[in-house]
Amino acid sequence: MLLPTLLAQTLPSLTLASEIPPLTPRQRGLVCRSDTFSDLLPPTATIESIVPILNPNTTHAFESPLQNPAYPLPAPNLPPLCALTLNVTTSPSSFFRFGLFLPTTWNTRFLAVGNGGFAGGINWGDMAAGARYGFAVMSTDTGHNSTSGDLDWALGSPEKQRDFGWRAMDGAVKLAKELIFAYYSDPPRRSYYSGCSTGGRQGLKAVQVDEKAFDGLLVGAPAWWSTNLATWTTKVFTYNAPGGEGYLDSRAMGVLGREVVRQCDGVDGVADGIVSAGERCVFDFERVVCKGEEEGECLTTKQVETAKKVYGDYVVDGEFMFPGLSLGSEGLWSVLLGGTAPDPRGQEYVKMFVLGDAGWDWRTWNDSIATMAAEMDPGELTADRFDVAGYRERGGKILMYHGDADGMIPVKSSDYYYNQTAASMGGVEALQSWFRYFRVPGMGHCAGTRVNAPWYFAGGNQDGSLGAAAHSMAGLRDAQHDALLALVEWVEKGVPVESIIATTWNTPSSPASGVLRQRPLCPWPKTQVLTEGRDEKDPKGWTCV
Ligand SMILES: *[C@@H]1O[C@H](CO)[C@@H](O)[C@H](O)[C@H]1NC(C)=O
Ligand SMILES: *[C@@H]1O[C@H](CO)[C@@H](O)[C@H](O)[C@H]1NC(C)=O
Ligand SMILES: *[C@@H]1O[C@H](CO)[C@@H](O)[C@H](O)[C@H]1NC(C)=O
Ligand SMILES: *[C@@H]1O[C@H](CO)[C@@H](O)[C@H](O)[C@H]1NC(C)=O
Ligand SMILES: *[C@@H]1O[C@H](CO)[C@@H](O)[C@H](O)[C@H]1NC(C)=O
Repeated sequence: MLLPTLLAQTLPSLTLASEIPPLTPRQRGLVCRSDTFSDLLPPTATIESIVPILNPNTTHAFESPLQNPAYPLPAPNLPPLCALTLNVTTSPSSFFRFGLFLPTTWNTRFLAVGNGGFAGGINWGDMAAGARYGFAVMSTDTGHNSTSGDLDWALGSPEKQRDFGWRAMDGAVKLAKELIFAYYSDPPRRSYYSGCSTGGRQGLKAVQVDEKAFDGLLVGAPAWWSTNLATWTTKVFTYNAPGGEGYLDSRAMGVLGREVVRQCDGVDGVADGIVSAGERCVFDFERVVCKGEEEGECLTTKQVETAKKVYGDYVVDGEFMFPGLSLGSEGLWSVLLGGTAPDPRGQEYVKMFVLGDAGWDWRTWNDSIATMAAEMDPGELTADRFDVAGYRERGGKILMYHGDADGMIPVKSSDYYYNQTAASMGGVEALQSWFRYFRVPGMGHCAGTRVNAPWYFAGGNQDGSLGAAAHSMAGLRDAQHDALLALVEWVEKGVPVESIIATTWNTPSSPASGVLRQRPLCPWPKTQVLTEGRDEKDPKGWTCV
């Protein structure tokens, strides 16, 4: 008789399934065929496709069987695996799909990866990154099919909104674990999550909904306060609407950003062009105001007023709604402030989720919309159940990070999340045993840098932003440099993550260009400090203090 693995390799697709007698559970190991899974599926779930990937080469790509506008790129460089797509009905008007990669050489762990913005699609690219470690890895389309800034699907669809909020992830995680058991005849030893932005939110939300969902979360720049993030995104644009007297064009943003570097770069003791301690910098706006001449490296008083609003907290009727952007983020201000209308993830959210009015015009914005959104939380997106004692008691760990130069989701919103969790779970010291938060000086939103700051540590979506080059991350794939592996060590060996060494290259997203800088990231409130006389480019010259 053929060994089960060989059997799997001789079956090109599920078309042969009917010709072969059903397998007993003992015989199931690693058979990439629908009847391995079908008898455990609930009536709401169907297998949409099942494809054995048998002879991968470095360019070999798994291609999504259906078009996937949110994640259009094929997944390259896969190990041999079984690729499944499932479709699960959640209500008469909603269903979600998820993809599952089951590597032949399995590291005995489960990994779920997240999405970005309002993207509805299976994130095959991040799944591929996970499969290269040997994880059995899952991603859900969150219950709709759209790109990140297309929210039309949500109009009048509370069921789809709820799938996006949490139900698709919750359902996909539970079913994926059973499918893993069916395939390997063993449950996953541990379950992990990695995602950034909306992906960060999805991870936090998943354990707030079900504390048994995961054992470790790698959470980047989470869009956790979804209601207020979206309404702030709309509001912040109104400060800088085109045609306003204090309008900041890209030149003005550049002037401001350079002045911030002049005043704030040195606050951490190292003049490297990276603002590492924005909150410790007392920025003197007077020094950037034009004195007489209205050209060159200066801003008008009105422009400074606009900038102060962008940095400032958003407060409605005395209530704190959302923090502003940080000093050092100016290089990415054009994302939310540079267009002719608010970012769709702000204004389309107001239309499709809050008001249910596709014709709403952002020029009619008023602050009661922000209050209304916060009260409604349509689809239950917001992940604000800070007390997850049950998760902590189970040994669950969270490693959260956020780029200080993020221009889309203010880093202070993660500070706030961490502070709120501390307030409800015994203080910052008590969090250190299970929840650590790493700020990333100079990193933008989830990945990349405009100031040559070390930013790569294998966070959610980071491999993808290097393209297929993720293959060349050999040398960084250890618990010192790779946040996911650091998390695994923390969960499985109890080794707390004291630091993560981030890397950047001479061309920030091209490992082939050679390492430019490496530097440890530190668990907040510790910060990175360069030992006197040491080279700032050498990670050993730094300590977390
Ligand atoms: C690798 O896979 C790609 C895509 O299937 C194929 O076009 C190519 O010929 C393969 N290369 C080798 C060396 O097998
Ligand atoms: C998603 O929408 C695109 C059109 O935008 C379509 O081609 C594709 O088949 C859809 N995918 C799924 C899974 O429904
Ligand atoms: C998923 O299943 C639902 C309900 O059976 C069906 O309406 C939908 O078309 C399926 N989706 C895809 C992409 O096949
Ligand atoms: C704010 O705008 C919403 C949506 O257009 C509208 O329903 C509401 O009446 C407005 N509230 C105030 C106080 O203007
Ligand atoms: C978080 O707490 C720290 C220390 O208590 C404080 O300095 C900081 O302003 C707080 N940040 C936010 C956004 O709440």
